[in-house]
Amino acid sequence: MRPSQAAYPATRFRRARRSDALRRLTQENLLSVNDLIWPIFIRDGVNIREPIASMPGVFRLSLDQALKAAEEAADLGIPAICLFPYTDPSVKTEGCEEAWNPDNLTNRFIRAIKDAVPDLAIMTDVALDPYNSNGHDGLVRDGVILNDETVEALVKMALMQADSGADILGPSDMMDGRIGAMRMALEAAGHKDVAILSYSAKYASAFYGPFRDAVGASGALKGDKKTYQMNPANSDEALRLIERDLREGADMVMVKPGMPYLDICRRVKDAFGVPTYAYQVSGEYAMIQGAADRGWINGEAAMMESLMGFKRAGCDGILTYFAPAAARLLRN
Ligand code: PBG
Repeated sequence: MRPSQAAYPATRFRRARRSDALRRLTQENLLSVNDLIWPIFIRDGVNIREPIASMPGVFRLSLDQALKAAEEAADLGIPAICLFPYTDPSVKTEGCEEAWNPDNLTNRFIRAIKDAVPDLAIMTDVALDPYNSNGHDGLVRDGVILNDETVEALVKMALMQADSGADILGPSDMMDGRIGAMRMALEAAGHKDVAILSYSAKYASAFYGPFRDAVGASGALKGDKKTYQMNPANSDEALRLIERDLREGADMVMVKPGMPYLDICRRVKDAFGVPTYAYQVSGEYAMIQGAADRGWINGEAAMMESLMGFKRAGCDGILTYFAPAAARLLRN
């Protein structure tokens, strides 16, 4: 007998796969609607559902439509949505002042959605790119992305989102020191219960392309984001970033993108045991949905398999454009 066969027939793995009942009994991980955060693109106007070419099935929504989406999220049991503004080029400046305007798109939508659907958690993105005439997440001087000046601007932006009623702030800018600065400012302003979900390990990725179309930043972006977003070759650095953000006051942490970085999710969960999220980003959505629309893969099956991958990798939740579709399947 060859060594590899020694245990046979004592161990026949197929016994546990024989029927649906046995497969369910031996299943290790579970995907639930409680794991989903739904990113939504918002814009000005009335009764608008504007398609995004590189994200088939995803739309930019005016306030009335976003309220419908929020109600749908609540009905489906999705715990949280995350707002991303599509801003008109006319409000974008080098100083990014619109980012902390109490009546900017995000802050207006937060107030209206909180009013209509109070139990739905609202997450925001804290970064300057939707308001920056050069498309970067931070302030730029002489071609350099300024760290400390950007942190000051982000704190103003975050405070205004908290004032408007945001439940979870999501700093996605990758400046150093922003979590500690935001946490201290939130405490001082009386917002001690506002959570921070830090985009701690955010890589400089090619998979954000469709998102930049969706928020209208593609044309504006000068250069790339490699001086602040992570090198895709690095893994230990992700753990150091997470450790730093937790120490500075983050409640939850994120790895982004998702599917090419499942090893990072697993390392983070094993090392810290904190609430860990992955962002299945726009390019990942586009790959799956684009292939499904052409009949090259089974879209529903690929969607659910990809989401289960995050659970297997140790994630507590997933930001995904598939959230409503997955929630509908999970309900049935
Ligand atoms: C910007 C931001 C990006 C995403 C979320 N927040 C893009 C970027 O860093 O250029 C990407 C999300 C996605 O691709 O779905 N601060």
